[in-house]
Amino acid sequence: MASVTSLSDSVQQQLASALTATRPEAAGADPLLRRSDRADYQANGILALAKKAKENPRELAAEVVARITTGDELIKDVEVSGPGFLNITLGDRAIVQNLAARHADGERLGVPPKQDPGVTVVDYAQPNVAKEMHVGHLRSAVIGDALRAMLDFTGEKTIGRHHIGDWGTQFGMLIQYLFEHPGELAPAGDVDGEQAMSNLNRVYKASRAVFDADEEFKERARRRVVALQSGDKETLGLWQQFVDESKVYFNSVFEKLDMEIRDDEIVGESAYNEGMPETARILEETGVAVRSEGALVVFFDEIRGKDDQPVPLIVQKADGGFGYAASDLTAIRNRVRDLHATTLLYVVDVRQSLHFRMVFETARRAGWLNDDVTAHNMGYGTVLGADGKPFKTRAGETVRLEDLLDEAVQRAAEVVREKARDLTEDEIQERAAQVGIGAVKYADLSTSPNRDYKFDLDQMVSLNGDTSVYLQYAYARIRSILRKAGEARPAAHPELALHEAERALGLHLDAFGNTVFEAAAEYAPHKLAAYLYQLASLYTSFYDKCPVLKAETPAQVENRLFLCDVTARTLHRGMALLGIRTPERL
Ligand code: ARG
Repeated sequence: MASVTSLSDSVQQQLASALTATRPEAAGADPLLRRSDRADYQANGILALAKKAKENPRELAAEVVARITTGDELIKDVEVSGPGFLNITLGDRAIVQNLAARHADGERLGVPPKQDPGVTVVDYAQPNVAKEMHVGHLRSAVIGDALRAMLDFTGEKTIGRHHIGDWGTQFGMLIQYLFEHPGELAPAGDVDGEQAMSNLNRVYKASRAVFDADEEFKERARRRVVALQSGDKETLGLWQQFVDESKVYFNSVFEKLDMEIRDDEIVGESAYNEGMPETARILEETGVAVRSEGALVVFFDEIRGKDDQPVPLIVQKADGGFGYAASDLTAIRNRVRDLHATTLLYVVDVRQSLHFRMVFETARRAGWLNDDVTAHNMGYGTVLGADGKPFKTRAGETVRLEDLLDEAVQRAAEVVREKARDLTEDEIQERAAQVGIGAVKYADLSTSPNRDYKFDLDQMVSLNGDTSVYLQYAYARIRSILRKAGEARPAAHPELALHEAERALGLHLDAFGNTVFEAAAEYAPHKLAAYLYQLASLYTSFYDKCPVLKAETPAQVENRLFLCDVTARTLHRGMALLGIRTPERL
């Protein structure tokens, strides 16, 4: 693994040291380097510095320029422009050499992992037992999976936690029904995902009907909750059946999503059951929580609800029961103390943001969170239908997630079939899954997570515009050129002069690592998506302007094949970080 310093970081360093040499008191100042249309980069930082020192910015800029070594090594040319900007042009040789070093590094493309990795526990993909998954769960899974891959790529250690809803009073009714009607759920090993969910639905509906109609059953269900909470063996056995059957269903959906979910990371609410009394005891003893009308609650001055009334967080209800907040607080203790987390990341619907604000603030008061261990809720917006209204079927029902995914794959099959000339039916189906699921993921990931997004299948599988299909085609086209090259191999030729389009592509390829780092640090997968889209656009304009296989000289052919190859690898890696496949042929 050979790390490569990015061109922009090298330029940044040279500017910073020229600046420090010119004005020692400016040490550590940021030259504010940006990609620019006028030259390769523009640095705007001198303006503010000159202003502060009451100097003429153009004169200061000229002094800095005098200290910068130019030539073909890195900076070919630097000049003062406008009120005191620096316009910087790199040498072609430096660009090609940089890409050659990335090319030689393989998988990581020369991107160095960070020096001081922390441990991030990512709470994502958390459906509820005995319930259908909905589009909200889809967002959590897709965003969480991408963030995790991006963080891993930066060198951060990540641990997944699927905080599934597998505990609570609602299980009393279900378990009591199963107790009275044994055998209604088949052993989980014998069913597929769809059957599992339909069994669960049937039991749910049947038990609900009895529950609503029969007061005595209601009472038995209530007692069943107590039995569950006190760890009664038989009750736990029946509860486990619901969990197992649900896992069969969850896993089938995750598989459809082409997503790996590890069983040891499915740690639901129930896992924190035993620790909850202690959580409550600590909070009460430290005075973080207080008794109010029998319940144990935490108050916040800053958090107020309707009528400006303070909204408390309920740690323990007056009847002694624990709920969602207690399980989340206990989970924090576990993640900090036992998993040694330095960051807790929650990918949960923005509608739960108040819950998390209160939970995090409570944990801070208790000292579980502090300057060294922080928590963030990446609250994502609502999924809307193509009409801009919350996503529902025509009949007003929530859309089943599997139906949605199946439809995406089906639409993708139409697109693939239309384009494919030499694919067998099996290949079409395989590509359709990669294109359809990719389309769903990309549409989600390319919008800023906190915004609502429209689930519009027509738009998602479109070949034009900012879609995964467009990126997948770009990748497949490059791979096809590389296949057609025959004897000619990709090889860097730093001695060649580059076309404008080659330079633009090269500089963008150089920015991959920095983009992933920034997107990971900000929990902003859409920044990586935007980068990849631009990469495909820059490649297209390179391809339009610079013949590859018909280039003038054999060296030119090799060098352009080499640019194609680095582009393909970068696209492949970037898409993989988003959880999206890049088929070799489409
Ligand atoms: N199961 C919850 C739901 O479906 C999401 C859980 C989020 N994670 C957490 N630690 N509370 O809404």
